Amino acid sequence: MARLRYEIFSEIAEEEGFKNVARLFKAISYSELIHAKNHYKNLSDLNQDLRVVARATFGPGDTRKNLGLAIRGEIHEVEEMYPSYLTIAIQQGERKAELSFRWALEAEKIHVELYQQARRAVNEGKDLEIDGKIWICSVCGHTTIGSEPPERCPICKASKEKYRGF
Ligand SMILES: [Fe+2]
Ligand SMILES: [Fe+2]
Repeated sequence: MARLRYEIFSEIAEEEGFKNVARLFKAISYSELIHAKNHYKNLSDLNQDLRVVARATFGPGDTRKNLGLAIRGEIHEVEEMYPSYLTIAIQQGERKAELSFRWALEAEKIHVELYQQARRAVNEGKDLEIDGKIWICSVCGHTTIGSEPPERCPICKASKEKYRGF
């Protein structure tokens, strides 16, 4: 769901002329896709229809509002959602789920910070300054900004080639 929200927020930011905020939403949207893939693939032993309940932010608006929604959603993931998922995965001995949640949790912490930087800029009527590209690790969703991706992902240890630049 976060992936789709960020795609929509990216379009809105683009229309409002916040090109780099649009790029940030796009890049983080890809990071959320990686998380969704990792979590979803870990459920491959199921073959049934399930109803799930998840908390999500609703009510899109302009970019300033959307960044607020994004920050609240990310903080929820960092402070409540993934810590509780992790506790249960550990209790149940679900090692693959545990790893998938750990990787996502570490990336979400970075998402909170980047969105907060973007909101500070937008509150002043400015676009976010980005020096280089936004790099996303296609294995774990790690998110970082720079001229080059890191040699190794600090979260999952994947090599540089696994990063996608935005
Ligand atoms: Fe995130
Ligand atoms: Fe990674």
